[in-house]
Amino acid sequence: QIDEEEVVAFSVPSYACLRRTTLDNHNPVLTDALSLLAENAELSDEDGRGVAFRRAAAVLKALPEPVTGVTQLRGLPCLGGHSLRVIRDILENGASSEVEFTKQSERFKALKVLTGIFGVGAKTAERWIRDGIHSLHQLQESGQTLNRAQQAGLEHYDDLKQPVTKAEADAIGEIVEEAVVSVLPGAQITLIGGFRRGKLTGHDVDFLITHPEEGREVGLMPKVVSWLESQGFLLYQKTTRNSYLEAKDGPARPPSNIDRFERCFSIFKLAEAEKRGTMQTENTPEDTCRLAAHSQATDEGPQRTKPAGGRRRWRAVRVDLVVSPISQFAFALLGWTGSKLFERELRRWAGHEKAMSLSSHALYDNNQGRYLRATSEEEIFTHLGLEYIPPSERNA
Ligand code: CTP
Ligand code: MN
Ligand code: MN
Ligand code: MN
Repeated sequence: QIDEEEVVAFSVPSYACLRRTTLDNHNPVLTDALSLLAENAELSDEDGRGVAFRRAAAVLKALPEPVTGVTQLRGLPCLGGHSLRVIRDILENGASSEVEFTKQSERFKALKVLTGIFGVGAKTAERWIRDGIHSLHQLQESGQTLNRAQQAGLEHYDDLKQPVTKAEADAIGEIVEEAVVSVLPGAQITLIGGFRRGKLTGHDVDFLITHPEEGREVGLMPKVVSWLESQGFLLYQKTTRNSYLEAKDGPARPPSNIDRFERCFSIFKLAEAEKRGTMQTENTPEDTCRLAAHSQATDEGPQRTKPAGGRRRWRAVRVDLVVSPISQFAFALLGWTGSKLFERELRRWAGHEKAMSLSSHALYDNNQGRYLRATSEEEIFTHLGLEYIPPSERNA
């Protein structure tokens, strides 16, 4: 006997770090809509609204079933009037007029295209739009001065728009591993970011590098970058040195979500593995991939890699490298695994519920007036009074 009036009610904790959010999203239409409004708010310098939409989307991502009616949402946290209106519109009319309007708006479309260029943030895009620039073509014609990152971003725009696959991430992982071990034997690399959370694709590939002996990692990044450059693997890189000082950035300063590790934002040149049967040599696809990149060390320029009349056999991929001393490794690992909202919620939980300051470097307990050491993510969760959530369930 089925009760027609029966309503499935969901119960969800309000902090995303108290929830297990897998990639198995049962409400993609609703979460895509809210994420689009979040993105629009972030691109419009309305971060508060952006976070509100992100939190609302994250609550729906944590539900075990598709939502079929707004009554099911009663009592759920983080769903403000605005988000509820959007959800109701979609459930009742199949679409949200606000989302559809935003998607179609010239302003949003221009912001998306321009901030889609690596090195271009919302402020720059805003300025260009005010100058009448709405497209890549208009940007190229405008005579605007582009910095080195933006030039590389524009040059590799189409490649960088293409999602990075796990196979590509693994291929890059092997190259980074070879680079790191060549310049510092014993150094270790860990895949972080979305791929560590089990995502099948990403907008980039993120790696954390450390060495089991404290201090051995100092100065590592420039050496890794030189190695990669000498082998022709880099189309662009910008290295920032470590600027973290416990004394200066510790308890006196609020926890920042911008960390101070030595890091490198780069664009890799990843050669395509040749398709089976089309290879002229004895090389495995991976060797062929390496050789194609190595041949670039002579600096022939990208256009020369196109076989006569054929298409080029490499593509540009965004890669982030971060170096952490082993004493901060667990914090760096936790801070760089994401998702961005999960990280934000961890810091909010630490600050508001535990009077602690969490960063990608350390955890400070304001009650005890001391840093809490940790050598694993599990220990950090324990310090924070949280049940351990594995990376695959941090997809808030
Ligand atoms: N991060 C950070 N500081 C930055 C950039 C990123 O601490 N300047 C952290 C983010 O908080 C996130 C992780 O690094 O936890 C990965 O960021 P990003 O690559 O932007 O996101 P992903 O989750 O990996 O998503 P995608 O697959 O789109 O790359
Ligand atoms: Mn399920
Ligand atoms: Mn990433
Ligand atoms: Mn990244």
